[in-house]
Amino acid sequence: MTETAIATPVMKQHLIDPEICIRCNTCEEACPIDAITHDENNYVVDPSICNMCMKCVPPCPTGAIDNWIQVLTSEAYSKDDQFSWDVLPEEKELPAELLHQDDAAESAPETGRTPLAADQSDVDSLEGVPSTDAGASIPPWSAVHPYVNMYTHKNVATATVVGNYRVTDDDTESDIHHIVLDFGTLPFPVLEGQSIAIFPPGTDAKGRAYHARQYSIASPRDGERPKYNNLSITVKRVTADYDNNPVNGVCSNYLCDLQKNDTVKVIGPYGNTFLMPNLAHANIIMICTGTGSAPMRAMTERCRRLTKNREYNGKLMLFFGARTQRELPYFGPLMNLPKDFIDINLALSRQPDQPKRYVQDVLRDRAADILKLLDETETYIYVCGLKGMEVGVIEALRDVVEGSGKKWPEVHAQLKSQGRLHFETY
Ligand code: FAD
Ligand code: A2P
Repeated sequence: MTETAIATPVMKQHLIDPEICIRCNTCEEACPIDAITHDENNYVVDPSICNMCMKCVPPCPTGAIDNWIQVLTSEAYSKDDQFSWDVLPEEKELPAELLHQDDAAESAPETGRTPLAADQSDVDSLEGVPSTDAGASIPPWSAVHPYVNMYTHKNVATATVVGNYRVTDDDTESDIHHIVLDFGTLPFPVLEGQSIAIFPPGTDAKGRAYHARQYSIASPRDGERPKYNNLSITVKRVTADYDNNPVNGVCSNYLCDLQKNDTVKVIGPYGNTFLMPNLAHANIIMICTGTGSAPMRAMTERCRRLTKNREYNGKLMLFFGARTQRELPYFGPLMNLPKDFIDINLALSRQPDQPKRYVQDVLRDRAADILKLLDETETYIYVCGLKGMEVGVIEALRDVVEGSGKKWPEVHAQLKSQGRLHFETY
């Protein structure tokens, strides 16, 4: 155990609540010193490495990360202890004389969640910077304040499936579904850019209930159907793992197979930074791949509804990556949107007879128009989809900005500190 982490008789041990954690990997990515790790059961904090820098705390969507238990330093829970837990242990009573010493507990962090703050100290380089650091940790200043964590493991919401249909061509490999969930009389307020988590039924090989999986909301705040208490999600059926071995993704298959009137167990909503500006003239640049289009659909539809009442007149630019046009979710409805409402740029990587294109290629092609928008302080960028695109998109934005003679580190820092650059990748 390192001296920094554990040198006093009593410590506040940083722990992750296995009951609440939705295994989204955000904390592991946010930790700059690799103190957080996971096995097939749990995400855990290594007490010999954690220096309580708190970088993992604000990005956690559920608050599962924010647990601190006072323990004897010599009896700190090991990684293996934590891997085996189904619930957090109770805090044990410690000898009073130890508690009155000048101990680690006094210098331990506040147990409440840290306020969100843009950290400008490590925005300049890509190398070695956790991916979640690429974006802002604050929302746009004008964003509506979101509700988060209204429903938790101890207070699960039930929603009814009122629609489930495929939004990619039937004969393609990409089976992506648009699923509409209705909450009836149960309050479930959401904003565009937020997500929910859903519990698949059943248990894993060890007999533990499956943990909940997170899905971005694909509909605007006033509902998939305006003024109804419903929302939609965009779910890709996982049939192969990241190494392309065949698997049956537990939750995505469950969701894609749901029938009308089935019910699902939902928790959330989550997300307090990936939120859209609440200004009539704000511009939005959306960059996505595959199901990363869900929050972009929500934001676009919000703007479309506002435009009908002349309440929105900003510019929308969309960069959308998919294998082929036929595997691009919502292709038909997207193409029906008026050209003067949204500037759509597709990047197709496996379209027959066309060169492979990624969103970052198209960003470079449209450098002049992106720069024009970036010059306006009320321009906001959202990136959602494959984890792998994050670095490529940042590099493309850097090239676009540097092509105009500006310094990317400065522009990047400003975009982050002003809540104007947001990532949600998985
Ligand atoms: P599991 O049973 O958990 O996994 C089966 C195997 O497949 C495992 O080996 C796993 O590593 C691998 N695997 C998991 N996901 C994928 C994948 N996408 N591609 C390839 N292999 C995979 N998914 C959506 O479809 N739509 C969304 O809008 C969406 N939003 C998300 C937002 C956030 C913030 C996060 C963290 C995730 C989001 N996801 C979204 C992913 C989703 O939460 C699940 O991870 C995904 O549906 C797979 O779950 P599963 O239970 O089917 O697969
Ligand atoms: P590819 O043809 O190389 O897989 P998916 O269908 O797997 O959800 O992916 C959506 C799109 O994102 C595909 O066109 C895929 O291309 C593309 N893609 C894959 N990796 C990256 C990356 N690192 N950056 C940008 N786009 C990517």
